[in-house]
Amino acid sequence: MAERTLLTKRPSWAALQSHYQNTQKSHLRDLFAADPARGTRMTAEGVGIFLDYSKNRVTDETLKLLFALATECDLKGRINAMFSGEKINITEGRAVLHTALRAPKGASVIVDGKNVVPEVHEVLDAMGAFADRIRSGEWKGFTGKPIKNIVNIGIGGSDLGPVMANESLRFYAKRELNFRFLSNVDGTDFAETVRDLDPAETLFIVCSKTFTTQETMTNAESARNWSLATLKDKASVAKHFVAVSTNAAKVKEFGIDTANMFGFWDWVGGRYSMDSAVGLATVLAIGPNNFRDLLAGFHAMDEHFRTTPFEKNLPAIMGLLSVWYGSFFGAETVAVLPYDQYLKRFPAYLQQLTMESNGKRVTLGGAEVDYQTGSVYWGEPGTNGQHSFYQLIHQGTKIIPCDFIAFCKSLNPAGRHHDLLMANVFAQAEALAFGKTAEQVKADKVEDWLVPHKTFPGNRPSNVLMVEKLTPFALGSLVALYEHVVFTQGVVWDIGSFDQWGVELGKALASKIVPELESATEPELKHDTSTNALIARYRKGKK
Ligand code: F6P
Repeated sequence: MAERTLLTKRPSWAALQSHYQNTQKSHLRDLFAADPARGTRMTAEGVGIFLDYSKNRVTDETLKLLFALATECDLKGRINAMFSGEKINITEGRAVLHTALRAPKGASVIVDGKNVVPEVHEVLDAMGAFADRIRSGEWKGFTGKPIKNIVNIGIGGSDLGPVMANESLRFYAKRELNFRFLSNVDGTDFAETVRDLDPAETLFIVCSKTFTTQETMTNAESARNWSLATLKDKASVAKHFVAVSTNAAKVKEFGIDTANMFGFWDWVGGRYSMDSAVGLATVLAIGPNNFRDLLAGFHAMDEHFRTTPFEKNLPAIMGLLSVWYGSFFGAETVAVLPYDQYLKRFPAYLQQLTMESNGKRVTLGGAEVDYQTGSVYWGEPGTNGQHSFYQLIHQGTKIIPCDFIAFCKSLNPAGRHHDLLMANVFAQAEALAFGKTAEQVKADKVEDWLVPHKTFPGNRPSNVLMVEKLTPFALGSLVALYEHVVFTQGVVWDIGSFDQWGVELGKALASKIVPELESATEPELKHDTSTNALIARYRKGKK
């Protein structure tokens, strides 16, 4: 690998550090008071998403330095490298081309000398045709009944994306179909998923990039046994099981006809795959046309990210702001607060996207970083979160940058509901930024001793993202926005955002422990004393 400049040795990093020392105490109250245009000036808009980032602890100088940092880190060059199919996932020797999954027909993206776009559209067409057959009732189960229930079996990226998309776009879904998502290896998840289903009306999508993931394959085997216990005939598997995978050999070995397999490619990371065949459950729910709109939203954001100058580029701005808080202010988490009930799984989806991508401690060159990388992402839909954890964000000792996500129009207009919901978004962002001073509290005739308890320090940063309406297109553009935020962060931090070696050790140790739990001979334990004692206790306890 070419010699890389360490991030902390970059001139713009040093400049940001001294700028941080000089400005860290600046209060948003003063910044707003000094610039009457701040609230309208520090905004950006693209692909139907309006971003107000004025309530961040930044000045024009901060932004200038952050954009200079992005330029020094060659963000532009790295964006081009990703989009053009360079093998930027260096530890796995792979291209990173989720953007090709939403490239329009006719576009060209070359991987190893081959244009991959036609194949992408072949799979999309096959998914659409299959969805039409299931949705119309033309596809019959083994006993001749149409399919009513669809169970997606997958975990991580093969679960969280479809779960989130199906939940987010439930408004657009065919309600006659019942969707369930089975992910945990805990037998309870399996039992509760299938307990009231009729195998003759149930289709399983076994969704796994590798088709070797322990949780998914265990659930898939239990599902096959459950299905065969009623349908009796092995030939029924072809009518009740389809696969989404890159591993045709394993799919065949499991007994699924590869004619009923929807493929994707090694250049699609699991957490970047909801717009590939992994989205089969989503196409089944919302139909092929809505799925195409979802992809169009992704693509529009891709183009925005690729072509817009950083100063107006939504993912670049948000990515750089999160670097500012994470690496300079030492903020450890980011709260994502969607004010739309349909987006209730969006924060959970973002957790894998952000933390599996940027939870890294060495640079691409292998050196240990001496700055904070990936933040902990978390959140709940508003207004529920307000009655739960917002207290800590308002008055706690930690700095927690927040992303509020809101829609101008409700999909379910009902009396005052939407105005009340939106009033809360605006109020929370306002309260976080400006707080309530001791003087203001005193003016409310509060007893002296209570004043500190009722004072809000403010100066708590947030972004407000506003979109007209939650549509498939809007969801696609929101997801792509965060994908590119993660990319921007990863480029600046100089880490590999597209591998996930950190999940391997636990997997390897678990497979070593499984026989120690299952074997009747109770083999001798050779772990540390704590692990040995825990296993011994479990062996005794399960008898
Ligand atoms: O947890 C690690 C991981 O590899 C994720 O990155 C991935 O999304 C998940 O497991 C599921 O993998 P697969 O789709 O191969 O079953």
